[in-house]
Amino acid sequence: MKQGKPKGGKRSEATSRLGQATRIKRTQYAQFHFISSDWSEFVPSDVRVKSLGNKVVGFSGLTNVLINFDTEKLMAFAELSSIEWISVYGLLRSGIGEKTISQLVEKGFAYFDDVSEWSVFLRSKEELITNTGWKSSSYMCHVANMWQDMSQSLGDYGRLDAFDEFLPNEKDPRSILPALCPAPPALYRREDALSRVQLKSETTQGHLTNLLRKRRSRRWFTDESLKRKHLSELLENAFGWLATRKPMPTLTVVRKSSPSGGCLHPTECYVLVMNVEGISPGYYHYNVAEHSLDLLRGLTCEEAVKDAQEIASGQYYFRSAAICLILATRFDRLFWKYSDHAKAYAASWADIGHISQTLYLLTTDMGIGMTFTAAISDANANVALGLDGVSQGSMAAIACGNVHPELRRNLEMTFTPRV
Ligand SMILES: Cc1cc2nc3c(=O)[nH]c(=O)nc-3n(C[C@H](O)[C@H](O)[C@H](O)COP(=O)(O)O)c2cc1C
Repeated sequence: MKQGKPKGGKRSEATSRLGQATRIKRTQYAQFHFISSDWSEFVPSDVRVKSLGNKVVGFSGLTNVLINFDTEKLMAFAELSSIEWISVYGLLRSGIGEKTISQLVEKGFAYFDDVSEWSVFLRSKEELITNTGWKSSSYMCHVANMWQDMSQSLGDYGRLDAFDEFLPNEKDPRSILPALCPAPPALYRREDALSRVQLKSETTQGHLTNLLRKRRSRRWFTDESLKRKHLSELLENAFGWLATRKPMPTLTVVRKSSPSGGCLHPTECYVLVMNVEGISPGYYHYNVAEHSLDLLRGLTCEEAVKDAQEIASGQYYFRSAAICLILATRFDRLFWKYSDHAKAYAASWADIGHISQTLYLLTTDMGIGMTFTAAISDANANVALGLDGVSQGSMAAIACGNVHPELRRNLEMTFTPRV
């Protein structure tokens, strides 16, 4: 960049916005989008942006803040290094204005080496992400898709099974597209297959086969408390440890009912108790070693019910459940082995999926019901559970309780059985 005098004259004046800072670094956790349309309702995470037009916007993974990047901000960001500290004065001398520099810092795209609270916060967040072992592209994907207080914007779309909602309605313009364009077929075939080997239909009626056939998502729960023994059985069979091994001095692994990438079992189960026999409402952590529910925060029943709906991004049937399980990944354990690894984040989701199916089969077998959702307000869940979202973060939630004997239209679809 062209060398010149710092904008604003003398250094003492020019750095007034910049406090005592002498050196600056940029974060490695930022990403840019190029917007060439009027995205008046663009909601990448918890940030709402109105009418951005033809712009470059930057998203900071340190603050979850999305801002416009004009040419000067882009130039300033390009001048900075995420590895070496550079002199603030040098940056000013290269023609970057103090306002631009202070905005980059204020919004979390760069930080100073000073001891101000904000600088310390940004530096420690950067260190935490790096030390946890996140691959930066995975972290950006994770954090840019995080939701906070999503209930209002998700609205009735929370009811994914309510296909009536897909009929065009004025309130939600997103409903028009799926109604007009036919979906790709439910059953897929490869037209370019070379030949076909016909298989005989096997109709073995074992216990597992029956469970698999009976399994379905249930969303209409009765007011009856969930039996304490049902909760205990569910947690023990889905999350309890069955065997242990020490493959190396620094690592102990356990075997559980679901498979897990690297045998690390990084998924923790938190229980938001709303209506369980003999257990007061509140947030609990399922302590696998002790087979106990460790209370994190007691709540009134009303607070617990409100929180469950909030965590489920407004999906109202969570209110009627007896418990809401929140599944959270310990990224620090997963990335201990798979540090800076391109597939580790995918493995965390695969773990969640396996556990979900185990829970579905267990609840079906026990005669209770559940529904899984990934559409959670994870930022809210993290705050409620005291998680930093970096070394450990909420991923998904499950509504569970005693099911109503009937299926409820708009909540649970009826299907035509295969004959
Ligand atoms: C990854 C995933 C996300 C889901 N998200 C939701 C959700 O947000 N809300 C909901 O009501 N159901 C959700 N479900 C449940 C599905 O809607 C349900 O499995 C599907 O409609 C098929 O019905 P069945 O489970 O009864 O076979 C989800 C399921 C999966 C596997």
